[in-house]
Amino acid sequence: MTPQVSSLATLLLLGSFLAPVSSSEIPVQAQLIDQRAFNVLATTQPPTEFNATSLFVPPGSTGDSLAHKPFHVYDEEFLKIIGETPTLTRIAHSPKDPLFHEAVVWSKRTDEVFFVQNAGAKDAGTGLEKSAIIEKISLADAAAVSNKSDAVGLVDVTTVPSSPMVLNPNGATNYRGQIIFTGEGQGDNEPPALWVMNPKSPYNTTVILNNYFGRQFNSLNDVAIHPKHKDIYFTDTIYGYVQDFRPAPGLQDQVYRFNPETGAVTVVADGFDHPNGLTFSPDGKHAYVTDTGINSGFFGLNFTRPASIYRFDVKDDGTLESRKTFAFVHSGAPDGVHCDSKGNVYAGCGDGVHVWNPSGKLIGKIYVGSTAANFNFAGEGRMVICAETDLYYATLAAAGTYVDSEM
Ligand SMILES: *[C@@H]1O[C@H](CO)[C@@H](O)[C@H](O)[C@H]1NC(C)=O
Ligand SMILES: *[C@@H]1O[C@H](CO)[C@@H](O)[C@H](O)[C@H]1NC(C)=O
Ligand SMILES: *[C@@H]1O[C@H](CO)[C@@H](O)[C@H](O)[C@H]1NC(C)=O
Ligand SMILES: *[C@@H]1O[C@H](CO)[C@@H](O)[C@H](O)[C@H]1NC(C)=O
Repeated sequence: MTPQVSSLATLLLLGSFLAPVSSSEIPVQAQLIDQRAFNVLATTQPPTEFNATSLFVPPGSTGDSLAHKPFHVYDEEFLKIIGETPTLTRIAHSPKDPLFHEAVVWSKRTDEVFFVQNAGAKDAGTGLEKSAIIEKISLADAAAVSNKSDAVGLVDVTTVPSSPMVLNPNGATNYRGQIIFTGEGQGDNEPPALWVMNPKSPYNTTVILNNYFGRQFNSLNDVAIHPKHKDIYFTDTIYGYVQDFRPAPGLQDQVYRFNPETGAVTVVADGFDHPNGLTFSPDGKHAYVTDTGINSGFFGLNFTRPASIYRFDVKDDGTLESRKTFAFVHSGAPDGVHCDSKGNVYAGCGDGVHVWNPSGKLIGKIYVGSTAANFNFAGEGRMVICAETDLYYATLAAAGTYVDSEM
C-alpha cells in the first residue's frame, strides 16, 4: 500500500463521520453508486420482464456511463481495493466462440495466465464432439497496453497443446509448481478427472483422479488447494449433462476432498443445487462455495433457485462445518470465486466481478456489462477477467492469495 493510499484511507475514515465520500476522492476510472437512490423505484417490472438476466441500471446512470467508469464503488472500503489509478483493458475479443470462460490461473514461473474455452457452448461446437481448449497470455504483453481501454489485437492469445489433452477443462489452480485442472469429461466413456499439467512446453499432463470407488463423477467443475494442509478440494456438478456432453448424473452434486498422499477421497459438503466455484480464505479458516442453481444450461433458468455464495468454517481436521449464506447476487449467478490477501471475496457474476468484504457486504464491482464466469489475480495488483467472448486485464491495489506447495 502506498503512503498516498493510507492517507486517503485516513481522510475517508474521518470523512465517513462528516459527509459521504466526495467525488473528488474517486479515481478517474471509478464512480460511486449510491444505493439509497434505488431503495424506492418509481416503476418496477415483473420477473418475466426483469430478472437475473437483466442488467440493472441505477437511476441517473446509463449502460454507457456504467461501462465508461467500470470500477463501481458501493462502499468506501472498495477504494482501498482499487487504489488511486485502477485500469480495465479489453485485450481480446472472439465474437462467436466463447474462448474466455474459466480456469483462470497465474503461472508464477512463466508470468503467464492460463484460461479455458467454454465446453458447453453450442456456438463453439465443444463438449461432446471436441474438447474445450486451454489458452494463455503473457502478463508483460497485457501490462504494455494497460493504459488503453481497448487493446484487442495487441495481445497474443496462444493455444496450449496439453498432452495428453485435458478433456473439457473448467477449473484450475496452482499445484506443486504445476497447474491442476478439473476436466468435465466427454460422453459416456471419458470420465471427469483431475489433471495436472506442466505449465511449460511440452505441457505434459498426468491424471491423478478419475472416479469415486469406480463410479464416474458427474462433471468436475472447480478446484482449490487448502492453504495449510494442501489437500485438494473440488466441486462436482451436472453441467456436462445439462449441456449435452455427459450422461445423466450418477451421483448427487457435492464437494470432495482428495489427499494425494494417501489416496483418500471424502465428501465434505452436499445439499447444494449446482455447486460451482470453490476457494479458501487466505488463512484457510473458511471455504467459499458458489451455487449457480438458477442456471441449468440447456434446461433453462429458474430464478427461485440459488445464485448464492455459501461460507463454511474449515476445521483443523479439514472437514467443513457451519454453512452460512454469505451472499446472493442480483445479476446472473456467482461462478468463479477468489479471495484477495485481506480476505475480501470476489465472484464472477452476470455483469462483471462483484466484491464483498468478509462480512458479506457488497462493496464494489468491476463492471464489464456481461457475464464474467471467472477471473483471477496474477499476484499483486493485476487481474485477468474472462467474459466469454471478451478477455480483460485489470490493475488495482489489491493482491491475490497464492497457494502452492513447492516453488
Ligand atoms: C427474464 O427477463 C427477460 C427480459 O430481460 C425476458 O426476455 C425473459 O423471458 C425473462 N425470463 C423468464 C424466465 O421469465
Ligand atoms: C499510455 O502510456 C504511454 C507511455 O507511458 C503514454 O505515452 C500514453 O500517452 C498513455 N496513453 C494513455 C491513453 O494514457
Ligand atoms: C512432465 O514431465 C516431466 C519430465 O518427465 C516430469 O518431471 C513432470 O512431472 C511431468 N508433469 C506432469 C504434470 O506430468
Ligand atoms: C423452479 O424451481 C423450484 C424450486 O426447485 C420448483 O419448485 C419449480 O417447479 C421450478 N420451476 C420450473 C418452471 O421449473
